[in-house]
Amino acid sequence: MFKAPIGMKDILPEELFAWQEVEKQARITFSLFGYSPISTPILENLKLFNRSLGNETEIVKKQMFVVKREDEDYCLRPEGTAAIVRAYLENNLDKTTGFAKLYYIGPMFRAERPQKGRLRQFHHIGVEALGSNSPYLDSEIIILAVSILKNLKVEGFQLKINSLGCLKDKEKLSLVLREKLKDKSRNLCEDCQERLNRNVFRVLDCKNNSCKEVVSGLNLAYNDYLCKDCQEHFENVKENLNSLNISYECVITLVRGLDYYSRTVFEITHSSLGAQDAIGAGGRYDHLIHELGGPESGAAGFALGVERLLLVSKYQPVASFLDTFIITLGKEAKKNGFVLLNNLRANAISADMDFEDKSLKSQMRKANDSKAKFCAIIGEYELKKQVVTLKNMQDGKQEEIPLANFIEEIKKRINSY
Ligand code: HAM
Repeated sequence: MFKAPIGMKDILPEELFAWQEVEKQARITFSLFGYSPISTPILENLKLFNRSLGNETEIVKKQMFVVKREDEDYCLRPEGTAAIVRAYLENNLDKTTGFAKLYYIGPMFRAERPQKGRLRQFHHIGVEALGSNSPYLDSEIIILAVSILKNLKVEGFQLKINSLGCLKDKEKLSLVLREKLKDKSRNLCEDCQERLNRNVFRVLDCKNNSCKEVVSGLNLAYNDYLCKDCQEHFENVKENLNSLNISYECVITLVRGLDYYSRTVFEITHSSLGAQDAIGAGGRYDHLIHELGGPESGAAGFALGVERLLLVSKYQPVASFLDTFIITLGKEAKKNGFVLLNNLRANAISADMDFEDKSLKSQMRKANDSKAKFCAIIGEYELKKQVVTLKNMQDGKQEEIPLANFIEEIKKRINSY
């Protein structure tokens, strides 16, 4: 027996109904905010991510699903941002539309150690707004993420925001951190001792307890590294959130696992998720467009993890049940039933039947399982009289309806159901 690859799972119909509702709600919110859909290939050039995410990031170092071909090394995309920037530039959107507000929904791949809420194939609902440096854009994407969560009835989530500053500030922040951590390095885990030189930001979100203790004693302050412009930008973002009563917490140690971020970063967490508590995250990436060959132009975005979203959402999708289940008794009735089945479908009335020549009782059970509103029975008696016996599955009442005007009659009953 074959099994799905480790950390990847099948999404069965019952779960998929909930997924589709999540996607539907998200799409409605995206269009309210003026975002348009985009879809990019699942496979991208490996170098695109090495260049965008940073060689020292966990994703690039350990988690890429690489596909080697003679012509090129590809990988299954680990995230959407770099791919959207590539598409924005390749399709000249920087020149034609300039500012583009895009959203995407689809699978991402990271070879991580699977655990609750952490998969190797997972799904993002994400947005990227490219071509603006305005702090209003940072505010808009945060409000958009929060709105999606609210529409999906996610309660009790925490929004954490921070500013990493511009490139110069980031450089300054890494010097400040190295300086502050210099005497404390023996209390850091082995990985963080490595990170001190290679990627000191990562020390800030290490899950190891002794590293957490060191970090909490650092007494970092925005004045240590944020320039005046970046402080103003951050203040503006916070003001906008305040003006709409969006609750947030400023967490100066919030860094992201991807190198492209600058200025505003944010994360939305939910305590019920355990160790993998981030439902979504994002921020500004003002240098990525240029880094990938485009103009110097600001951008911001976020992605929500659909699997984690479903774990915390209290949204109850309205189940859509079948209108009619057809039960037939005998060969001739089956033939007639099959014609009626397809007439119903052609008239936009959802219908199904069992093809297995089972007993009335067994077909009734199927009708019950399908949760159909009505059950249409055709047997020898009905054939002779050219009628259909229609059973209302809610109150159990039965009536005979002439086959000739069955569609019309059932439509009336469905409308007043
Ligand atoms: P990220 O934080 O790597 O950001 O992923 C965003 C969300 O995807 C996480 O908060 C989490 O909910 C979900 N997620 C990540 N990894 C996994 C996993 N292995 N299993 C299940 N869920 C997972 C990004 O990818 C950025 N591209 C977001 C962004 C867009 N920034 C700017 N624009």
